[in-house]
Parts: sequence; structure tokens; C-alpha cells
Amino acid sequence: MTRNDRANFGSKLGVTLASAGSAVGLGNIWRFPFETGNHGGAAFILIYLVCVLILGIPIMIAEFLIGCHSRANTAGAYQKLAPGTHWRWVGRVGVLTGFLILGYYSVVAGWTLEFIGEAATNSFAGKSAADFITSFNQFTANPWRPVLQLILFLLATHFIIVKGVEKGIEKSAKILMPILFILLIVLAICSVSLPGAGAGVEFLLKPDFSKVDGNVFLGAMGQAFFSLSLGMGCLCTYASYFRNDTNLTRTALNVSAIDTMVAILAGFIIFPAAFSVGIQPDAGPSLLFITTPNVFQQAFGNIPWLAAILSLMFYILLALAALTSTISLHEVVTAYLHEEFNFTRGKAARLVTAGCMFLGILCSLSLGVGKNYTIFGLNLFDLFDFVTAKIMLPVGGFFISIFTGWYLDKKIVWEEISNNGALKAHFYKLLIFILKFIAPIGIGCIFINELGFLK
Ligand code: PFF
Repeated sequence: MTRNDRANFGSKLGVTLASAGSAVGLGNIWRFPFETGNHGGAAFILIYLVCVLILGIPIMIAEFLIGCHSRANTAGAYQKLAPGTHWRWVGRVGVLTGFLILGYYSVVAGWTLEFIGEAATNSFAGKSAADFITSFNQFTANPWRPVLQLILFLLATHFIIVKGVEKGIEKSAKILMPILFILLIVLAICSVSLPGAGAGVEFLLKPDFSKVDGNVFLGAMGQAFFSLSLGMGCLCTYASYFRNDTNLTRTALNVSAIDTMVAILAGFIIFPAAFSVGIQPDAGPSLLFITTPNVFQQAFGNIPWLAAILSLMFYILLALAALTSTISLHEVVTAYLHEEFNFTRGKAARLVTAGCMFLGILCSLSLGVGKNYTIFGLNLFDLFDFVTAKIMLPVGGFFISIFTGWYLDKKIVWEEISNNGALKAHFYKLLIFILKFIAPIGIGCIFINELGFLK
């Protein structure tokens, strides 16, 4: 395809919102709190913020410029920029990572649909924290309902993907993101004012470095990559639809800022409420779903109609935030199959949807009927999460920084960062230094540390 016959995002706002739509999702609202809870709270958050700053933002700019310059899907991008080399494997492994993430991500996305149903039928009314835990465990262990919901969710993703880039992705992100943001602020205020919420706020703000080990660093780095949609060519694929005059640095800064704010807000919703009703912060993947119903019950129990409306809005927006992320994951794989194998977009999308349904069903069943089947002590759902977020995405980020810092012609980097000299590229030298040295060495050290070689 030439530079001009691919779809484009229509407006500057659309560019930022579509990328932010990919970044902001279950990673911020579901995964960030439970990873924070598993890794001891504030110290994890501080390390996470450092990872966003020195790994996330530079690698996001690198992904943007690779996609924007090549105007191709992620595997095609490396083929264009480094023809005949093995760099294309960075793109191909990225596509595989996207496929695997979409498999288990759609399971959690399906849970949001179940919660929309619960909120719509006012099923939270009068229940205690213990009741929420029991009913969530019963739901995820059920072999049918979660599977049905994940299939519905993937069909919705499929429908938007076949409608194409501009109409589907951009429009949905433009309307939904601001509403989600406002609702999160309202809920955070409610949560913080619950009785006993102070302990949750302290958990978020008072770091205890005595619990920091290699695992915490690996978790924080993985979360940064996962939350910012980095390391698998997702934002590279989106950038291939950017207009030529897009300011890549500013877009990366905006997207990272929005993404980080949403994650922190989610923390301020979950932990004060969890501490208030006695839920353990290390409850794992169920944390969001067993905690949030309490916020509505506790804060608005006296005004049932308000509790019902706010909870319904929250789960609808959560599902929509997940949808803008599943769309981006799906798009990486669909664009690859469409452009590299000459499948029609429709056929490519159908293959991806069917494959992800298969993976998703296995992951969902691994939490219930199949929970005794484990690999390295993890069920399939946890294994996919671990391998993709904590290994494949950071390894992808490592190679993306080496590619941009060492291999790629610096003239290309400069042209894309400065839009051919039209923008002042203040941070150009710093960016190159980080991509050449800091990011690869940082990622490498975290892996080596986790393996126990650094003491
Ligand atoms: N960033 C998304 C989230 O936080 O929910 C998840 C995700 C999307 C990860 C796209 C990776 C990706 F390429």
C-alpha cells in the first residue's frame, strides 16, 4: 500500500484519543490495582511511575515513529525499514503477543458485561462485601456464563473492526474517554470518604521499600508496558494511520499522562473502599469486581436510584474502555493478516475473532472447571497474563529501543520527531540516549535481577 491509500485518523484530537483509548482500559482499572495490591502498594506505584517516565514514554515515541514512517502494520513496518533482516521478527512476535493478550483480556472484558447486567437489574442492593465475593467466585467458576459474555464482547469488537479505522475507533474514543474520566473522579471522591478509607489512602501513598524485590520491579515494568499498550506494535500500527503533521512527542506525553491519571484514580477508587469493607488488597484479578459494588452500596445505599444509575454507568464505561483496547489489540493482528497475507479485512478479522474466542474460552474455563490443570503452577489465564505482560511486552520494548536507538537511520528519527524540521525537537538527543542505553540496560537489569543474578 502507498502512503496515501491507507485510512487516516481525521483530527489531531482523534489521534490522541484513539491512542489513549487503546492505552486506557482494563489495564488501568482492573490490572493496575490488583498488581499494586499484590506488590505492596505505594513503593510499587513509585517504581511504576519511573518505568512510565524512562521506559514507557521514549518507547512510545519510538513505536509512533516506526509506524508513522513506514505506514504499515507492525511486521510490515520492520520489513520496510530494515528489508531482508531479522528485525521483522520483532513485529511478528508483537502480533502473536497481541493475539494472546486479546485471548485472556476478552475474558475480563466479558465480566464487565455480566456486571452491567447485575447493575441494570439492581442485584447489588442489600448485599454485603462477603456476598459480592461469593457471587463473583460462583460466576467465574460457571462454565457457561463467562464464556457467553466473552463471545459477545469479541463479536462487538469484531463489528467495530470491520467498519474500519476512522468511523469505528476514532468516534468511540472521542465520546467515551471524557465521560469515563469524570465518573472516575466522582467515584474516587466517594470511595475516599467511606469510613475507614484512610488505611487505603495510606496504602497508596506511604511507600514501604522493605518489601521491594525483583518481582516488584518486574511487575511494575510489565504493568507500564501493558497499560501503555507498548512492546507489541499496537501504537506502531495506530501511528501508521496518523496524519503526517502529528506531533509524536506531544501525543506520547498526552497519552501517557492520561493513562497514568486513570490508573492512579482507579487506585483511589479501589483501595480506600477495599480497606473500608475489609477486602484484602492482594485479592488478585477479582479485586476490582469484588470491591466496586461496595462503593455504590456504601456510598449511595440510602439513595438506591443513584446507586443503580452510577453503578450502571461505571460498568458500561468500563466495558467501553475495554472495548477501545480490544479494538486496538484486534487491529494489530487484523492489519497484519490483511496486509501481509492479502486476506480481505473482513476475512482477516473473522480469523482473529475466531482464534481469540478459542483462546478466551480456554482461559475462562481455566478459572473454573479447568483450574486443576496448571503449567508452572499457574492456570492458563494467569500464565497468559504472566508471559505476555511480564516477558513478551518488555522483551518487545527492549528490541524496539535497540532498533530505534542503534539501527534506524537517525535522519528518519529526526524527520519524524521534528516533522521535517517544522517542530523544535528539544528532547531529540535525550530520546536517542535513552533508547540507546537507558531503556535496554534498564529492561535487561530488571530481567537479570528477577532471575536472581543481581544481589
Ligand atoms: N493498554 C490496554 C489496557 O491498559 O487495558 C491493554 C493493551 C492494549 C495492551 C493494547 C497492549 C496493547 F497492545
